[in-house]
Amino acid sequence: MGTLLSRHIRIIVSALTLACMMVAAVPAGAQHINPTAEAVKEDQLLNQTNRLVGECTLPDQKACTLEQPRGRDWRYWYQVPLRLIGGLAILGMIAVVIGFYFIRGPVRIEHGRSGRIMVRFGAFERFVHWVATVCFIILALSGLNLTFGKVLLLPIIGPDAFAALSRWGKHAHNYLSFPFTLSVIAIFLMWVRWNLPSRLDIQWFLQGGGFGKQHPPADLFNAGQKSIFWVVVLGGALVAANGYVLMFPFWITGIVGMQVAQLVLALVALLYMAAMVFHVYMGTVGEEGAFEGMWDGTVDEEWAKQHHSVWHEREIAKGNIAVQPAPPEAKIQPAE
Ligand code: HEM
Repeated sequence: MGTLLSRHIRIIVSALTLACMMVAAVPAGAQHINPTAEAVKEDQLLNQTNRLVGECTLPDQKACTLEQPRGRDWRYWYQVPLRLIGGLAILGMIAVVIGFYFIRGPVRIEHGRSGRIMVRFGAFERFVHWVATVCFIILALSGLNLTFGKVLLLPIIGPDAFAALSRWGKHAHNYLSFPFTLSVIAIFLMWVRWNLPSRLDIQWFLQGGGFGKQHPPADLFNAGQKSIFWVVVLGGALVAANGYVLMFPFWITGIVGMQVAQLVLALVALLYMAAMVFHVYMGTVGEEGAFEGMWDGTVDEEWAKQHHSVWHEREIAKGNIAVQPAPPEAKIQPAE
């Protein structure tokens, strides 16, 4: 009987000692909880502790983090405010551009084409701009798929197609980030001297830019284009810096840093896209004669006079003017 009692006492003392050792071994910052207790619901359990770290023998100890409550904050910001702000910015800009088209209409070359052309962009400038454009379109579509694809695309195309598309999208997104970043650096180096603020910019804004009745003087780029330039350069720098933090996980920052980087990247990229909707509109249907500069590098003299009078005068003084070559069909003489 005595032996039985002392055996029980020994078991109780050992159990208590073990329990004390376990409490002492709980990492700083984490509270001791009993995850199997019935009263503890999952939510309570996850909210009670700053970090739920298990024990594991994996070489990568980061894999032993089972639950990180900050992750729920990140998920909320990602799923709710980010989608709302980004969606509203892009759809809002599309609505503005459509409104512009129907109310103001495209900005025409007022006095008609002159038939004389001026070189506006060299071959290297156009090449860089096209690299940026092609990369941007694929980056934007694959990025939109990351943010909205699960909600908008998955229900339509089904899980298999969505998984394949997302896998290819992810590869394209990662690899095209490099030429895109290089093209933004090149854009900065090529055009920064033309995009520094000048007193003409205030006048340009006060007169309503190219949309008003008058055409305020402007050099190679007007104040509106300078704004786009800085969105492209500063937005591009932010997107690239945060993107590379994510592309090389744990090299630069821990999990919380990566969550912040992801939110900054996604938000800036969505606002960037909204700005680009406006830029693409102005570069195509919004302003007659502008796209030619991007396509073959030349613009009509009347266009240059109307939109960039300071640049036009300087270039004329340098002799940058030629007669527009006749289109190929005009050279073909009909047979008698
Ligand atoms: C389909 C897509 C695009 C079109 C049609 C387009 C069109 C144009 C045109 C016509 C110009 C010359 C305007 C002028 O001669 O005054 C221009 C300039 C410029 N583009 Fe684009 N672009 C596109 C995409 C992009 C992208 C993706 C970027 C950068 C990420 C970009 C950055 C710029 C910059 C910085 C300028 C000089 C400043 C300005 O005109 O706003 N463009 N673009």
